[in-house]
Amino acid sequence: MSSLRVAVVQYSPEFGAKEQNLRRIDSITSSIDADVIVLPELCNTGYFFLDRKEVASEAETGDGRTAQLMRSIAQRRNAIVVAGFAEQAGTSLFNSTLVIVPEDSQNYVYRKIHLFYREQNCFDIGDSGFFVVRDERRDLRLGPMICYDWRFPESARALTLLGADLIACPSNLVTDAWHKVMPARAIENKIYLAVANRAGSEHRAGEELRFKGQSAIYAYNGEALATAAPDKDEVLYADIQPAQTRDKSFNAFNDVLSDRRPEYYVRLCTVDSK
Ligand code: ACM
Repeated sequence: MSSLRVAVVQYSPEFGAKEQNLRRIDSITSSIDADVIVLPELCNTGYFFLDRKEVASEAETGDGRTAQLMRSIAQRRNAIVVAGFAEQAGTSLFNSTLVIVPEDSQNYVYRKIHLFYREQNCFDIGDSGFFVVRDERRDLRLGPMICYDWRFPESARALTLLGADLIACPSNLVTDAWHKVMPARAIENKIYLAVANRAGSEHRAGEELRFKGQSAIYAYNGEALATAAPDKDEVLYADIQPAQTRDKSFNAFNDVLSDRRPEYYVRLCTVDSK
């Protein structure tokens, strides 16, 4: 069964210093030897925007300067690149992630659905929906989600039902709760999960956000294959066997997808869930 190497880049962008951040990403990734490279959420701009005006001054289209650099990295490293960025699409602003496959000319863009904290003053709710990028050459089905999407088990389940082997999750995590949850998402969906968090802190308008590092790659049995330190820049590596996730059974009788009973979950899909 073929094996792929996943690299997760934990690094600390400087808020508002896009050119400097892009140079740093270029430099860090120049020595990475992997099939998939996952970078953090908003990795080109930093995180702590206060309002839409600030986002608009930094946001780019899905084929802008940042996407061009990510494509160049994907081609030079012969790797799929997943990278968070602030996106402008017409008058809309999204907290988005690019998925770039070197041999595929399309830039796939996932727009974050669940907006965290002050993101609600800065971005629109994503309208791309969840999707899975199928790379036949690497035999990988990759589903992106972004940071706070983790708190909704529906995100990982939706990506699993769409066929993901690996969920790539660019993040800027400021709590520790996700450590308890991500292994469960891996087990219940029988998928790999790569969380690229950032380290460091940002101070804006008298408030500090401290990012928790500890990026991780989880196997489909919930085991952490690699974990980063809380407070420094680091590249993590793990080898995964994507095809192992496609048989959803875990013993001779049980299968995490075919054992589902959706007729009893109807409330999950109603808008008014009270
Ligand atoms: C987050 O969604 N950046 C916590």
